[in-house]
Amino acid sequence: MNRPADTTLPLDGRDPANLRGDAITGDRYFSPEFAKAEWDHMWTRIWHVAGRTAEIPEAGDMLVHNFMKESVLCIRQDDGNIRAFYNACRHRGMRMVGETTSLDTITCPYHGWRWGKDGLLQHAQDRHDFPQGDPCGKLRLNELRCDTWGGFVWYTMDPDGPTLGEYLAPMPEAYRGYPMDTAVRVAWYRIALGANWKFVTDNFSESYHTRTAHPQVPPWIDQDVETARHEMWPAGHGRTVQPMRPSLSDRLPDGVEHPFAAILRQWDIDPAQYATYEDFALQGWRDLKAAKRRLWQERGYVHYEHMDDEQITDSPHTVIFPNVTISFLPDNLIFFRSEPHPTDPEKCFFDLWCMAFPVEGQESCQSIMAGEKPLREVEVCEHRDFDGGRGIPELAGQIVYQDMELAEAMQAGMHSRGYADAYLPAQETRVRFFHEVLNDWIEGRRP
Ligand SMILES: [Fe+2]
Repeated sequence: MNRPADTTLPLDGRDPANLRGDAITGDRYFSPEFAKAEWDHMWTRIWHVAGRTAEIPEAGDMLVHNFMKESVLCIRQDDGNIRAFYNACRHRGMRMVGETTSLDTITCPYHGWRWGKDGLLQHAQDRHDFPQGDPCGKLRLNELRCDTWGGFVWYTMDPDGPTLGEYLAPMPEAYRGYPMDTAVRVAWYRIALGANWKFVTDNFSESYHTRTAHPQVPPWIDQDVETARHEMWPAGHGRTVQPMRPSLSDRLPDGVEHPFAAILRQWDIDPAQYATYEDFALQGWRDLKAAKRRLWQERGYVHYEHMDDEQITDSPHTVIFPNVTISFLPDNLIFFRSEPHPTDPEKCFFDLWCMAFPVEGQESCQSIMAGEKPLREVEVCEHRDFDGGRGIPELAGQIVYQDMELAEAMQAGMHSRGYADAYLPAQETRVRFFHEVLNDWIEGRRP
C-alpha cells in the first residue's frame, strides 16, 4: 500500500473541513457484518500491543495475547530480541499456551510436539512416520512481525504492511523525551464492558464530555476549547493537548481549597502571591514550569530530563489508531485500550494500565485513574466485569469509571430509530475522522 510521503504533519483536529462527512451510523456498533469487515480488513493488518516489555525480561518469557478468536505468543529469545508466533501447533492447530508464562520449550498438550522458543520443531512422536518427511528441525510455528516501542511489545498479522515505526509516526518522535520504558505499571485491569469497542476510541477522541461526565477535572486540566490543541494525522492517530492548570471558566466556589494550589506548593510556589484568579491559573502555570525546570533533579524527577516545557506541565491525550489511547502526563502514562469481544459486537474488553514514572525517594504514586498506589509493578491483571460499576467498586468516582458508566446507554442509543448520525461541534472533528479512517481500511484504502 502506498502511504503519503509525509504522514507526520498534523491536520487541524478542530476543523471539519478535514472531513468527508461519512455518517457515524448506529449499525457500526452492533452489526456482525461490520465487525467481520473490521476483522478482515483492519484488525488483521494493524499493529497490536501484546503487553509490556517488562513482563518478559528473561529468555523464554512469553506474552500470550488473545485477540477475538486469535492467539499470539511473543517470546523473549536468547539474544534478547522478541519474536511473535501464532499460538497454534502446526500439527493439528491446537492452541498450546493458555496465559503469559515462562517456558524453555512449548509442548503441545495433544500429541506432544515440542517447539523451541525460536519456533522450530524439536520433537515429534514417531518422527519417521511422516511420508512428507521428518518435521523435526524443519517445521516452524508461523511467525508474525514483532517490534517494540514505548516499553510495549507490538505485533502485526500483516506480513507486508508498514513497519511499526511507520505505523506509529509521528508518536515515537513526538514522545521521544518520555522515558516510556521506565514507567512502572501500578494498576492493571481488563474490564468487560457492554458496548462496542469503538465507544472507547470515540470517548477518548474528544474532551467535550469532560465538564459533564468528569466535573472534577476542569479545576485541574484546562477544559477551555480555545486553549487546547487538537491534532490528527492521516493514519488516524490524534491528540488533544491541554494545559494542566485550572480552566478560567470553571471556577470553584469562593472558600474552596483549589487542587492547583497544592500542586504549586509542592514545587515551592506560594499560591497566595497571585492577586487574581487569572494570575493564579496562568502565571501559576508558568511559574510551575520554571520551578520544575529548576528543581527536577534535586527532587528526583529524573524522567523530566529530556521532556520539553509543554510535557512537564501539560496533558497530551493521544489516540493511536484504532484502539490504543495513551495519556502522557508529567508523572504518569495511562494506557487505555478496547478490544472487541470474540463474538458479540455489543461487548468489548477495556484495558486500563496505570503507569507511573519512578521518582527518587517516593514509594507511592498517584495513579491518576486508580488512586494512590505503591510504586511497584503489579504482577497480575485484574479481570472484572463492569456490571453497572459493581464489578470494580474500588474505582467508583474515578475518571475512567465515569466513562465506563456511559458505555451501555451509548450502546443502547445506537439501536434507536431516533439516531442516524452524530451532530458534532468542531472540537469533536476527531470522532468522525476516526470513523472515516476506519472506513478507509474497510474499503481497502489504507491510509
Ligand atoms: Fe471521559
